[in-house]
Amino acid sequence: MRHLLFSLNPFKRVLPATLAVAMLTGLGFAEDPLGLPNWVPRPLTPPNNTLTSAKIELGRHLFYDTRMSLDQSMSCASCHVQAKAFTDGQKLSIGVTGEATPRNSMSLANVAFMPVLTWANPNLTSLEVQALLPLFGEHPVEMGMAGKETLLFNRIKQDPVYQKLFREAFPREAQRTQDELYNIATLTQALASFQRSLISFNSPYDAYKYGGQPHAISAAAKRGETLFFGEKLECYHCHGGFNFNDNIGHVRMPFPELGFHNTGLFNLNGKGSYPQLNQGIFEFTADQDDMGKFRTPTLRNVEVTSPYMHDGSIQDLRSVIKDHYAVAGRSSLSSGGSNPLRSPFIRGFEISEAEIHDLTEFLKSLTDKDFLNDPKHANPWQQKQVDKKASETAKGPSHENRATSK
Ligand code: HEC
Ligand code: HEC
Repeated sequence: MRHLLFSLNPFKRVLPATLAVAMLTGLGFAEDPLGLPNWVPRPLTPPNNTLTSAKIELGRHLFYDTRMSLDQSMSCASCHVQAKAFTDGQKLSIGVTGEATPRNSMSLANVAFMPVLTWANPNLTSLEVQALLPLFGEHPVEMGMAGKETLLFNRIKQDPVYQKLFREAFPREAQRTQDELYNIATLTQALASFQRSLISFNSPYDAYKYGGQPHAISAAAKRGETLFFGEKLECYHCHGGFNFNDNIGHVRMPFPELGFHNTGLFNLNGKGSYPQLNQGIFEFTADQDDMGKFRTPTLRNVEVTSPYMHDGSIQDLRSVIKDHYAVAGRSSLSSGGSNPLRSPFIRGFEISEAEIHDLTEFLKSLTDKDFLNDPKHANPWQQKQVDKKASETAKGPSHENRATSK
């Protein structure tokens, strides 16, 4: 085996197929756990965190495990619910201490393609780093584990389920010390890998647009598509591309595209200001022009991700269209008036009830039911409990009691 790669005998130069694929793509993929349709480019993965099924599976267990929060009441999935495309249905998310975060939970569909993360942080570029915020962040407290790393890893390494999953996901580290196997690096790499596997490209609109199925969406949705991509509504300028947003990075792009915009939700002082803690990337750049600029969210699965906007302040799609975009930004109707810093594409438009209906039907055609119900993305602990119950009924009761998640 050792000479396989370097043998001078051409007849012996046979690479294992997976290795050959990894070398050809140059991405270090030892396998392809994503199963992307062929019209979608590959997302970028950090060179030190090759995507494997074993890491995805470990990450899924961690994502759904309430032992990851201080009082064991919360997991990532408490605020990122699969049936809601990994949002939580709340206006603002609430952490373990009951404190509300200033923000609305975000969908994790296709998060692998996001070059910058969260609503308004131009410096947060890695899922591995992002995971530290809900776990250890103190402003706001989400899962409350700041300073509790030892407690966290003690909970984890005692569980035989994790002992197996960590060994499989990190075989090299497993041959070294316990501390090299169970630490923040492996934990966040696994969480990031699971999140990269949350791929959603199977909506009726995809079937219509890329799958050669002309009847996959309704006539109303087709009329809505025309409105969405037209110059009257301008939606596509920011919500264009295969992920319906202008924040995108993948292997075919030399540089990622970043889109932060002020859509005119607020204008508190007449000069365009937004509320404290929700001032967009201004909070990082201190540039007045960046006031109120937030990252464009994907519109995939938007039917199930209400309430909308960074602060959850719009309840339904009809209001997004009629009471926000059509009036050139909601603040136009407030005492502050229209926001002078808003994007030039937010100009307002006349829209009939029939057109609102059509546009909404188009947005609903972006719902990927397979994604929302895929058992691959679901709570593995619940699946284990179901399996256990089944075997208990077969074998009689067991007294094993493992603290797990909801
Ligand atoms: C208390 C609720 C809550 C919990 C628990 C939580 N999140 Fe979030 N998540 C949010 C909110 C709110 C945002 C938006 C944050 C912002 O913009 O500042 C977010 C944003 C994200 C994003 C950015 C998505 C994007 O498109 O940029 C990722 C990734 C993420 N969370 C992953 C996780 C992971 C992993 C965990 C568990 C370790 C977790 N979250 C736990 C509420 C939560
Ligand atoms: C100038 C860029 C831009 C244009 C044009 C634009 N949007 Fe947006 N859209 C955004 C940004 C940025 C946000 C988040 C704003 C915030 O939270 O402050 C957003 C948010 C949304 C949301 C909420 C999604 C969520 O998950 O909360 C919907 C729905 C939406 N836009 C639909 C549309 C439609 C329909 C149009 C056309 C009428 C449109 N957008 C035009 C940039 C744009």
